[in-house]
Amino acid sequence: MEEIFTNVFIDGDKLYTKNLIKGERVYGEKLIDFKGKELREWNPRRSKLAAAIMKGYKDLPFKKDSKILYLGAATGTTVSHVSDIVENGKIFSVEISERSMRQFLKISEVRDNVYPILEDASRPNLYSGLIEQVDFIYQDVAQKHQQEILTKNSVYLKKNGIVFYCVKARSIDSVRPPEEIFEEEIKALEKKFKILDTINLSPYEKDHIMIIGMLR
Ligand SMILES: C[S@@+](CC[C@H](N)C(=O)[O-])C[C@H]1O[C@@H](n2cnc3c(N)ncnc32)[C@H](O)[C@@H]1O
Repeated sequence: MEEIFTNVFIDGDKLYTKNLIKGERVYGEKLIDFKGKELREWNPRRSKLAAAIMKGYKDLPFKKDSKILYLGAATGTTVSHVSDIVENGKIFSVEISERSMRQFLKISEVRDNVYPILEDASRPNLYSGLIEQVDFIYQDVAQKHQQEILTKNSVYLKKNGIVFYCVKARSIDSVRPPEEIFEEEIKALEKKFKILDTINLSPYEKDHIMIIGMLR
């Protein structure tokens, strides 16, 4: 077992985060004991950030006190692991679906660093009073107009802040070849961000990439 990033551990092909809330599971994952710490298994088939790490992403820059704007929180699978990592930070978590948010609230009730926001990420002015300037934006909304969503939310990103941008080819165009869509997304992002990494998430997620960029 080796700690590869703050509060992130790897043992062979198994990834873990240090559980912020001892004894609590979020999605039926395994809990194990390692040198007095409780670790929570992080499933790369359930979380694109875990998939990116398993695919060789080497520079996860999250710190214990990082502030993150997370767009597309869903029921909180990935947010919960990010919450383990940035234990003293803040994760402003935006989700449009009331049904997902209902389940998400169970996580935010026990995790003090998770701030739930039931809102449409394409209208970021509606949550301006609820959030702070952030070090990172993590966007996983699987929407056709997701570039526009990122552009609008970038006002909350600090200078040199970093974006984690998930692209699901089929959400943008179900007919054109994924490679063509990925190229376009990278090009569009390059206007505002210096591209740091591009990771194909196969075989964990088919026709998905994660683009990591720094705000210019
Ligand atoms: C692929 S899922 C996210 C999975 C999640 N990031 C995880 O790893 O656990 C996409 C989510 O984005 C949400 N979403 C889509 N459009 C949105 C919008 N405009 N504003 C906020 N959330 C949105 C969907 O409701 C859905 O829950």
